[in-house]
Amino acid sequence: MEVHNVELVMSAVAPAQYPTTGYPEIALVGRSNVGKSSLTNVLINRKSYARTSSQPGKTQTLNFYNVEDQLYFVDVPGYGYAKVSRSEREKWGKMIETYLSTRPQLKGVISLVDARHEPSDDDVSMYNWLHYYKIPILVVATKSDKVARGKWNKTESVVKKGLQLSDPDEFQLFSAQTKMGKDEVWNWIEKRIGE
Ligand code: GTP
Ligand code: MG
Repeated sequence: MEVHNVELVMSAVAPAQYPTTGYPEIALVGRSNVGKSSLTNVLINRKSYARTSSQPGKTQTLNFYNVEDQLYFVDVPGYGYAKVSRSEREKWGKMIETYLSTRPQLKGVISLVDARHEPSDDDVSMYNWLHYYKIPILVVATKSDKVARGKWNKTESVVKKGLQLSDPDEFQLFSAQTKMGKDEVWNWIEKRIGE
């Protein structure tokens, strides 16, 4: 998709605030600081539209980005941020569970993991949870620019094995820095929103 127009239409904490236009939605999940906002910026050809930072835990709300009046990207606050209190974490958990398990417009989830590491326990829980709800998943191993090219195959097998990735879920290596994987991620999104 050629993206020219993007607008952050809502930062929501509850269903009453979700957009009502009915466009299909693609959500981005992953641990804090993994690169969700950076991936969003690459997909929409912007340098810093979705806020990125070196300070983990910045994104605290469900941020709906209207893309070309055709779909929404939903930037979901990152999990696994240690400095967040237990009650905040529970609130976060409820908010995203509600969104992910009850939203008819949700056509797929891009689940980000760090290409440099084995999937964490939180990554595995998130994957299992999404898989259980039969939400189509694209696992994206991001920051691949930090992994030597000769190790990309190994990265793919480590991530797939760690998550026990199974059909019909898909995998893609990605880098916000080199834009590797951008077209493949878009192809997956277009397939999902066309269904
Ligand atoms: P939260 O909103 O806090 O959950 O974080 P996030 O998942 O949105 O991460 P964000 O996109 O803000 O990126 C976090 C840090 O990682 C930033 O310093 C980015 O520049 C860096 N980063 C993200 N993607 C990549 C990538 O593909 N390669 C490299 N080298 N750095 C990246
Ligand atoms: Mg973010």
